[in-house]
Amino acid sequence: MQVIAIVPAAGGGTRLGAGVPKQYLPLLGKPILAWTIRALLAVPRIGEVIVVVPAGDEGRVAREILAPCGLSVARVVAGGAERQDSVREGLRVASGAELILVHDAARPLIGAAVVEAALAAAAETGGAVVAVPVTDTIKRADGAGCVAETPPRGHLWAAQTPQIFRADWIREAHARALADGVSATDDAMLVERLGYPVRLVPGSTENLKITTTADLMAAEQILRGRGVTW
Ligand code: CTP
Ligand code: MG
Repeated sequence: MQVIAIVPAAGGGTRLGAGVPKQYLPLLGKPILAWTIRALLAVPRIGEVIVVVPAGDEGRVAREILAPCGLSVARVVAGGAERQDSVREGLRVASGAELILVHDAARPLIGAAVVEAALAAAAETGGAVVAVPVTDTIKRADGAGCVAETPPRGHLWAAQTPQIFRADWIREAHARALADGVSATDDAMLVERLGYPVRLVPGSTENLKITTTADLMAAEQILRGRGVTW
């Protein structure tokens, strides 16, 4: 099955507060975005990678990040105000694939084995999400800051990326969300609301999403522990 990867990298990184989008910050000397793309290009079944960056950054990302790091991608396109808008922009230029994989630029530590497992699940079921069982007990709050409910932890998973779907499903999901004014924090939510099945594929807590400075330091530790050099 032909697979195209879309990498949403058009966020501003406000929570990290570095003054530049976090995907441009160095992780052991190379930009976070470069590590993420390199990890995806290491998966043989991924035929092409489309990178979605802040509007106006397209040329600079190609010249100053991708080319110097020796990374060859199919397209670099401008994203939108929200992550969902950015993924939609990626979908507009993705053609020909049977499966679309979406993986956040902010998760540079994804491993090829997990991607392969998620691709196999998506090929079988049509939708797959990499996730980890939650280790904290999760509370749902009411409007007044009290606990409304404690869902049993055994059924709770924290969704990560990659998330992989049949191309027709994710296109329909984004088109319907736009038409219905629905916004979601991940792509699976949009596919789920159409009633399509999405498999949970066990991933790793090492596939962390770099959100804060502490995450950046943790990511460097993990890379060092793996003995990885560029
Ligand atoms: N993203 C995107 N377009 C947006 C917002 C986010 O492509 N308009 C991407 C980010 O670049 C990131 C991923 O979606 O790779 C997950 O978003 P998040 O971790 O929230 O990153 P930021 O939005 O950049 O960070 P923050 O919310 O702290 O501003
Ligand atoms: Mg964000």
